[in-house]
Amino acid sequence: MASVLPVILTLLLSSPSSSLSTHPNPSSPLPPSNLITSTCNATTYYDFCVSSLSSSSSNATSVKSLSTVLISLAIANATNTSSFAFSRSKSTSKNPTLSSLYRACAEKYTHARESLQSSLDEISNEEYDYAFVHVSAGAEYANVCRVLFRRTNGTVVVYSVEMAKREEVLERLCAVTLDVISLLG
Ligand SMILES: *[C@@H]1O[C@H](CO)[C@@H](O)[C@H](O)[C@H]1NC(C)=O
Ligand SMILES: *[C@@H]1O[C@H](CO)[C@@H](O)[C@H](O)[C@H]1NC(C)=O
Ligand SMILES: *[C@@H]1O[C@H](CO)[C@@H](O)[C@H](O)[C@H]1NC(C)=O
Ligand SMILES: *[C@@H]1O[C@H](CO)[C@@H](O)[C@H](O)[C@H]1NC(C)=O
Ligand SMILES: *[C@@H]1O[C@H](CO)[C@@H](O)[C@H](O)[C@H]1NC(C)=O
Repeated sequence: MASVLPVILTLLLSSPSSSLSTHPNPSSPLPPSNLITSTCNATTYYDFCVSSLSSSSSNATSVKSLSTVLISLAIANATNTSSFAFSRSKSTSKNPTLSSLYRACAEKYTHARESLQSSLDEISNEEYDYAFVHVSAGAEYANVCRVLFRRTNGTVVVYSVEMAKREEVLERLCAVTLDVISLLG
């Protein structure tokens, strides 16, 4: 034991400091800005928040502008998933139940996008209560898609791993955005 301890200490002390930090961000060579870390610190998903905001090339200089960066990411995700679900609805046309579920989900994600789009305008008008409601709705539409799959009876219909992943990302983006909007007052 006595001979192992110095080795462990040496290894620890020689590690790059980033590997010791509580919130490493391996995808980016630069540390996230103080604005990003302090804002994300107030959210439910710190790491997800930091990596989402660091990956966007915006130069946000306020909490308010960070909230709009997050909403833009959510809009891009909702738009992307709506197209994805729509293309699935076509590729599954031999299975009418599945196909119509995908079509319904494409529509839900379109509504999510529209709702998030409204919240952008509301943030810029400092109507934070309305923005909060519209971002919540964005997450709710993603949830409704999954519920539609679950409700389907008689036929075995699988809610795909891909849709589940997409739902999770959009819901996390919305959750983090809501936490950030709460900081705005
Ligand atoms: C993060 O939040 C905790 C408690 O909410 C606080 O004590 C800490 O100082 C915050 N850290 C940063 C970097 O803002
Ligand atoms: C969806 O959100 C994630 C997490 O922020 C982001 O990394 C990704 O680029 C977004 N996807 C699209 C298609 O915008
Ligand atoms: C951020 O700032 C850099 C350098 O000042 C600039 O080149 C870049 O276009 C800016 N990005 C955005 C999204 O405004
Ligand atoms: C969604 O985004 C990914 C990468 O972010 C892209 O490869 C894909 O083509 C997009 N899908 C749709 C349906 O837009
Ligand atoms: C579920 O079953 C009920 C009764 O058989 C039927 O009326 C309904 O259309 C079914 N729902 C779906 C989504 O297939």
